[in-house]
Amino acid sequence: MKSILFVCLGNICRSPLAEGIAKKFTQDFGLKLYIDSAGTGDWHVGEAPCENSIKVAQNNNLDISKLRARKIKQEDKTLFDYVVVMDENNYNDLKKLGFKNLYMIGDYGGFEGACVPDPYYYPGFEGFDKVYTMLDIAILDFLKTEGLLR
Ligand code: 4NP
Repeated sequence: MKSILFVCLGNICRSPLAEGIAKKFTQDFGLKLYIDSAGTGDWHVGEAPCENSIKVAQNNNLDISKLRARKIKQEDKTLFDYVVVMDENNYNDLKKLGFKNLYMIGDYGGFEGACVPDPYYYPGFEGFDKVYTMLDIAILDFLKTEGLLR
């Protein structure tokens, strides 16, 4: 079984949404994939996703409220076939930790390598809608491009 780890900074806004969306595709298409998410930082370990991520997921019939934040660990290097990051900071942080199987989600779905904007620093809900839409498109394209969904 192939495995995908989605990584952002806090593991409470972007990567839990990515995890939820990827799990939805896995279920909808009957794929055999192991999906998880983690943060490069430890500030929010053990916490549920942020309120707006839970809300935007809910608006799209997705329940991510039971997910809990964790920090990236050394074992993740060998546990996961694909480590998919949200922005260049995540990419550089994991590169420094020695991760090799790194993918930028913005390289998929026609986003020309764009970073998934960190909605934590944007007031209001609009940013989360954009993040959801971007992740939905990019993750589906990732699965197809990497041959995980035919
Ligand atoms: P995330 O957003 O990386 O999408 O989960 C953040 C959440 C928390 C912090 C930064 C980004 N923080 O600095 O606490």
